[in-house]
Amino acid sequence: MLAPLPRPAAPAPPLDVAGAPSALLPVYAQLPVEPISGDGSILLTRDGRRLIDFYGGHAVALLGYGHPRFLAALERQARALHFQSNAVPAEVRERAAAALVAIAPEGLSQVAFFNSGAEANENALRIAFRATGRERVVAVEGAFHGRTAAAAAVTWGASKWYGFPRAPFDVVFAARTPEAVAAAIDDRTAAVILEPIQGVAGARPLGVELLEAARAATLAHGALLILDEVQSGMGRVGAPFAARLYGVTPDLLTVGKGLAGGLPASAVVARPEAVAGLGVGDLGTTFGGGQLAMAAVEEVIAILLEEGLIPRARVLAEQIRRACAVGPVVGFQGEGLLLGLRTTRPAATIQAELLARGILVGTSADPHVIRLLPPLVLGAAQVEALAAALAELPA
Ligand SMILES: Cc1ncc(COP(=O)(O)O)c(C=O)c1O
Repeated sequence: MLAPLPRPAAPAPPLDVAGAPSALLPVYAQLPVEPISGDGSILLTRDGRRLIDFYGGHAVALLGYGHPRFLAALERQARALHFQSNAVPAEVRERAAAALVAIAPEGLSQVAFFNSGAEANENALRIAFRATGRERVVAVEGAFHGRTAAAAAVTWGASKWYGFPRAPFDVVFAARTPEAVAAAIDDRTAAVILEPIQGVAGARPLGVELLEAARAATLAHGALLILDEVQSGMGRVGAPFAARLYGVTPDLLTVGKGLAGGLPASAVVARPEAVAGLGVGDLGTTFGGGQLAMAAVEEVIAILLEEGLIPRARVLAEQIRRACAVGPVVGFQGEGLLLGLRTTRPAATIQAELLARGILVGTSADPHVIRLLPPLVLGAAQVEALAAALAELPA
């Protein structure tokens, strides 16, 4: 009999923030605060502090916390039926899809629901491969599309994000210029995938010229244009989607994060021609389109429209740009409330300094950009509080 291989000694268990052993894998850098409840765009922490949330849990808490109408819709649906899969039809799923189509760029009329941004991108790429019969994708430098295999393959900085032994298909990364993107597209290209405003890269708009160049070249070469609006979508940029803000209509649009206001939900919204060849069994997921998530999607969209939160995003963003060019902030980038604050000093230091003053902001892959992704229910007084806190910090 073969001797069993020696097993490496088990490492010491990870510790939680209080120094106690934790059953959670320590794969996240965590801020030293634990929110335990929320109201509007205010978070209350376990140690009794009050924070203004300018980060929204990575842009997810689109309506903030405790929105009465949102909670009522969740409760209604949860009491009626919280889940049945795509094995059965669901009126609420149909209504959520129709509501999403109503705010999507014109001509995008078919929806498939999934659970995360990465999964939506994974399926958008799958659709493009199926539609074109080609094997190559063009992405751009700085892109972030998620951590599943296909989404990670089109994400810039493979050594950090990828974690698989090889990419599942060919990817060409183009520089962030209209010329470079157009030149990278040819008759072998299945799809071009772009975030109209790169989120993780620091709320960095690719520019309308680049988007138009990608649209023209994909049309010329029979490739599909995928716009990843997982971070920029759902009203955050002051329009329902950046595609509508810039007037560039893709073949496939992916949505996630705030789509269900905090429940896991994502979607691919498609031009009918792009999905014409798909039939039963070609896409699938267990949880996507579940009733509770769909009730959330339907209500999020209704609230966005009826409470005027999309134009409000624009107004608040203008207020931030006017009031917050103080202390270490030397410039702004992004659109609406997908906003990057360019800083003189490392963003991580400023994030900690603001947290000490009761303000929660995000960072980005750019070490000198603070990222703001607040709930769209943020108030003008909270913007003033951010400006006052920034003004107290060393330039
Ligand atoms: C533009 C973009 N696409 C995709 C993703 C991945 O979404 P998820 O983490 O829900 O898989 C993200 C997440 O930050 C994102 O910002």
